[in-house]
Amino acid sequence: MCGIVGIVSAKNVSEKLLNGLANLEYRGYDSVGMCFVNGNKLNIKKGIGKLDEVHKRVNFLKLNGNIGMGHCRWSTHGGVTEKNAHPHVDCKNKISVVHNGIIENYSELKEMLIGKGHNFYSQTDTEVIAHLIEDCLKGNKIENAVRNALKKVEGSYALGILFADSPDKLIAARNESPLVIGIGNGENFIASDVPSILSHTKKMIYLDDREIAVLTKDSFKILNLDGNEKKKKIHTIKWSAEAAQKSGYKHFMLKEIYEQPRAIADTLNGRISNSHVIFEKELGLSDDFLKGIKRIVILACGTSWHAGLIGEFMLEELAKIPTEVEYASEFRYRHALLGKEALAVAISQSGETADTIAALKEAKKYGVKTLAICNVMGSSITRISDGVAYTRAGPEIGVASTKAFTTQLAVLYLLTIMLAKLRETLNESQIKDMIAGIRKIPLQLQSVLDEDNEILKCAELYYNKQNSLYLGRGINFPIALEGALKLKEVSYIHAEGYPAAEMKHGPIALIDKNMPVLFIAPHDVFTYKKVLGNIEEVKARGGIIIAVATHGDKEVPKKANHTIFIPKTLYTLSSILAVVPLQLLAYYIADKLGRDIDKPRNLAKSVVVE
Ligand code: M6R
Repeated sequence: MCGIVGIVSAKNVSEKLLNGLANLEYRGYDSVGMCFVNGNKLNIKKGIGKLDEVHKRVNFLKLNGNIGMGHCRWSTHGGVTEKNAHPHVDCKNKISVVHNGIIENYSELKEMLIGKGHNFYSQTDTEVIAHLIEDCLKGNKIENAVRNALKKVEGSYALGILFADSPDKLIAARNESPLVIGIGNGENFIASDVPSILSHTKKMIYLDDREIAVLTKDSFKILNLDGNEKKKKIHTIKWSAEAAQKSGYKHFMLKEIYEQPRAIADTLNGRISNSHVIFEKELGLSDDFLKGIKRIVILACGTSWHAGLIGEFMLEELAKIPTEVEYASEFRYRHALLGKEALAVAISQSGETADTIAALKEAKKYGVKTLAICNVMGSSITRISDGVAYTRAGPEIGVASTKAFTTQLAVLYLLTIMLAKLRETLNESQIKDMIAGIRKIPLQLQSVLDEDNEILKCAELYYNKQNSLYLGRGINFPIALEGALKLKEVSYIHAEGYPAAEMKHGPIALIDKNMPVLFIAPHDVFTYKKVLGNIEEVKARGGIIIAVATHGDKEVPKKANHTIFIPKTLYTLSSILAVVPLQLLAYYIADKLGRDIDKPRNLAKSVVVE
């Protein structure tokens, strides 16, 4: 996820651009850049690091003019380097592009453009767009060149484009990445989100997929890629500035819960075809090594550790690789006996968790290969690992991890399919089914988010309870742990996650009419019937049963006080769907209690001490 902002105005826009970028910094802070058009020349300043650091070095306010755009980067293609910072330009330094998204066919396009004599400067997917437009320009109008170029592009983009020889026009385009057009007085704007330009205008147009916008200081025109002009509704935004920071959500945690369909789609983008997972190059580990792995050790803390437990389940069940999941904080204090054919996998949202870094360094002492599953490009964990698979959740600001968790599960799922294929533990049709299953997840997640009535009702009824128990089995036992952790973190209510059958070995003593018991009970052939039995045991003792079950299930609703439904999916994917109602329940309960949800007491987003 990156942020883009652009302005064309009758006045100097440098301060407004700088403020716009500051508002967008939550979307990425690997590098930042700005571009102005002055006297048929592009003027660009950029650098690695956060906006204030780069601004101190390059002084963005030395750039000025009536038309400009800025970008803050969350790296996906190409490392965190100045060369890879946006804006990117064509060969003649006449076309400048800022981009948020992923160009899936960039390698083919790059090869084709190099064949035509174009010279590339960066490793990014974005740069191909500047050269492609250059290629399509040749005497054409600039908007036609942009349209023709974008017809060749596959993938997601929100784009800002400036032309040195058209110093009065700002062009924008969108496909599957957010972009709004702000309509001002004597000036017009483009931005990745509404809040970044809300102090200048409340009038917004939401671009739809495969539309381009041509803006001058006092006009705007929206076209589809065939060049037909489109009539668009102008929305008047009523949010307060504070609400706007969170795109209208009350807290970042809620915003991030709702971002999950998008985050999973981004995580899958360009990594799956109908029949296989395209992952090997990214991982930086050879096929021979991956085929020969004898054992996997997963190292992680907190929510990432819960993702690891689900990963263990997938890797053992489907890729048939013996896997252990270690608390990173404990790993250093025991003798792990790792051999050279082991792979150590560190899972971390931040990539900066001190315990996970220490465990990874410890694993490296055994000479094993290491892989990071991480959300932050260039973070410490990614730098010390042999290979990296990035989750593409975008910046997670709420302390309680939500979208990082579900994207970690998506990456573990892809890793499992890739290993299963290499090791021939799954056949082609099984792999196809698994890929078809995860393709549906973004839409299925959206439907879970759209049906939150029962969750809200449970929060209303039980927010003042002192304790609660979360129970699940098999692949969904870690979801019980995660649901309980979410509730503890943000509401400060004591909650325990347990394997459903273990309950009768102790915790069952706690059950009475005041104890909410959350069951994760999706309809599968492995654990469902047993979980039904466990629900009966709680019911017989008067506990309050809240169950997460599969749409169409007739049995669970007969026994539970409340049933929250999730769509039917593969057993290995049920966890991604089942966790979402539990995230929402924790959020709504904490909100009823008036907790400081995004910054719960005693917690930090990255725990950088051991
Ligand atoms: O950044 P990491 O994934 O390494 O962080 C690990 C834990 O500190 C983190 O998951 C923590 O448990 C969260 N607050 C859970 O919501």
